[in-house]
Amino acid sequence: MNIKFTDTAARENIIELKNISQSYDGGKNWIIRGLDLLIEDKPDQGQFVVLLGASGSGKSTLLRYIAGLQTPTEGEVLIKGKSVSDKQRVSMVFQEYSSLPWMTVLDNVALALEYKGMDKKERYIKSMEMIELVGLAGQEMKYAQYPALSGGQLQRVAIARSLIANPEIVLMDEPFGALDIRTRIQMQDMLIDLWQRFNSTIIFVTHDISEAVYLADDIYIMKSPPSIIVEHIDIDLPLRRDHNTKRDKHFTELVQQVEDEMMKVSDMK
Ligand SMILES: Nc1ncnc2c1ncn2[C@@H]1O[C@H](COP(=O)(O)OP(=O)(O)O)[C@@H](O)[C@H]1O
Ligand SMILES: [Mg+2]
Repeated sequence: MNIKFTDTAARENIIELKNISQSYDGGKNWIIRGLDLLIEDKPDQGQFVVLLGASGSGKSTLLRYIAGLQTPTEGEVLIKGKSVSDKQRVSMVFQEYSSLPWMTVLDNVALALEYKGMDKKERYIKSMEMIELVGLAGQEMKYAQYPALSGGQLQRVAIARSLIANPEIVLMDEPFGALDIRTRIQMQDMLIDLWQRFNSTIIFVTHDISEAVYLADDIYIMKSPPSIIVEHIDIDLPLRRDHNTKRDKHFTELVQQVEDEMMKVSDMK
């Protein structure tokens, strides 16, 4: 299969995974074996990369490498050409609600700015702006816990927390996986809007092919262990997307194409 990576001669790569291998049992079994992934830096634009692959193919593991939470058994992980162990501006959103339930929405969002050393008044002003952007105005004094807030609202808090410090890289691991379909669609649209304001590079994991095509600039498909990236699909839909995009003939074709690739990959050894 032919994997086409973007031409990297002119631009820096924001993320480089080089010849990565992962074993959890001293090399008897390899979850990942010789995986390469280069993601080009587009500083003024950011980009939206979606990772697809069967459960257990190592998607969450790749995100943990990029977040600096884990180092691979073999290989190298570079963020903007530097070792990931250096302090990086990477933040992460999980499927499980990743906010602090004993704090209010406002304090949860403001906390991400406290680490940056911003003074209290400025922190709260910026946080309120962010809370409005994610559609939570009026909820800021509620505790970030269920059932005071719904599942969708809690993911809005998590997204606000992840974006407020303007990170270069945002990692999202099935963030909408637990939401009902209507909430999920609303969250997709909100994420598209936010992403265009923040220009971060987002690496997003999902099992939903239609969601993947709707959100992505690029989709990478991982095969089952020993895993590598087996396919890159360039999503050549307009940058600006909305409800109508999903009714576009080309959108439907891309969904079909990705589905076909996923079926091929599931038969690969
Ligand atoms: N700490 C660990 N110890 C042993 N096996 C692990 C550990 N973390 C992940 N794995 C295994 O690695 C494989 C890939 O896991 P993961 O990255 O979570 O896959 P995905 O997110 O694609 O479902 C799975 O089979 C999982 O059981
Ligand atoms: Mg996972």
